[in-house]
This record gives sequence, structure tokens and C-alpha cells, in this order.
Amino acid sequence: MRTLTTLAALCCTAILSQSISAATSQDQLKQEAATLIPAFAKHLMDTVQQAKEDGGPVAAVAACQTLAPEIADEHSNANWKIGRTSLKTRNSDNAPDAWERNVLEQFAERAANGEDVKTISYAETVNGQFRLMKAIPLQEGCLGCHGNEIKPAIAAALNEKYPNDQATGYSVGDIRGAFTLRHLGAQD
Ligand code: HEC
Repeated sequence: MRTLTTLAALCCTAILSQSISAATSQDQLKQEAATLIPAFAKHLMDTVQQAKEDGGPVAAVAACQTLAPEIADEHSNANWKIGRTSLKTRNSDNAPDAWERNVLEQFAERAANGEDVKTISYAETVNGQFRLMKAIPLQEGCLGCHGNEIKPAIAAALNEKYPNDQATGYSVGDIRGAFTLRHLGAQD
């Protein structure tokens, strides 16, 4: 009997410590994601801004087209894949998978219920892989390429590069899309 109790106690401790370490690792992963996202966002913003200063908004569209996917690759590494997605994409390579679509729909609902778009995020372990998404609010500086009144030269450039562009008609504060991260490494 005593052996059984000891055994049961041991098992419980093992299970307990396993779940504690899983919890810690989720927190760690969330923290890692929280440092990756602003660096990626800043790199994108700086690149668009620089291209605009150097060659004007039409050149910035071209820069965005070639550089945005490269910047996403640059901020990804052996452990993390980082990118952007949206319910209405400009680049169809950014189209959401089923899980991402579901999360984006939940983000829209949360925003409609009054939650601050700037802090909307969601994390889940999906088929043993940690995934996290964070909403991207549309800002003033995005309107020129994602807003309601796009200048004809920019509209023409967008139309040429993205004939199936769905990513216009946004207002400041709308959810433009989300950063999406996937942890590729082992969880523990
Ligand atoms: C100079 C034009 C331009 C500006 C300014 C701009 N974007 Fe974009 N945006 C693009 C282009 C071009 C793409 C497609 C690039 C790619 O392959 O990811 C894109 C793609 C995106 C995507 C990826 C999803 C998709 O639709 O393919 C998001 C999210 C996004 N932009 C958000 C923003 C936000 C937020 C801002 C402002 C902070 C912004 N953009 C400013 C041109 C622009």
C-alpha cells in the first residue's frame, strides 16, 4: 500500500512538474514573440519610410513588394517563422490558413466588442506547435496604400503588381491584419 501511495505521489509530482514546465515554456515563448514582433514591425516601417523618402510613394510600393517578404525571412530563424496575414490580403502569399482565419475572425469580433486593437493577441499550441498572432492596427501612415482615397499613381502601381488586391478601404484604427508567429523548435 505504501509503495502504491509513494508511486502515486511520484506520478503526481511528475505530472505536476511537467505541466508547470509546459506553462513556463509557453510564457517564455510569448516573451520571445513579444520581442520579435516590434523589431519586425519597425524594420518594415523604416523600409517603407526610407523608400518613400528616396523615390516617392510609387517606389515605396515596389520596395514593399520585394522587401516585405525578405524582411519577414530575415526576422525568422531556426526556431521561429514570422510573417503577416489578413482576411483581405494584398499579396495572396500572405493568405491565412484555417487556424489564422479563425483567429482573425475572433480579433474582428473582439474589436467590435470594444477591445483595444493595439493589444489584441492570441496564442495557442496547435498540434504541438506554439502559435501566436497579434493584431495590426491601421495607422495614418498606412492610408496612402491601404486607405479609401489612394492616389492614382499608387493605385496604378498596386493594380499592376497586385491585380487581386483586397487590401484597400481601411480607416485608422481598423484591424489591417496580424503578425503571425509559429515556433518551430522543440517546446521544452
Ligand atoms: C507604400 C505603400 C504601403 C504602405 C505605406 C503600407 N503598405 Fe502594407 N502593404 C503594401 C504592399 C505592397 C504589400 C504587399 C507586400 C507583401 O508581399 O507583404 C503590403 C502588405 C501588407 C500586409 C500583409 C498582408 C497583405 O495584405 O498581403 C499588412 C498586414 C500590411 N501591409 C499592413 C500595413 C500597415 C499596418 C501599414 C502602415 C503602418 C502599411 N501596411 C503601409 C504597401 C504598403
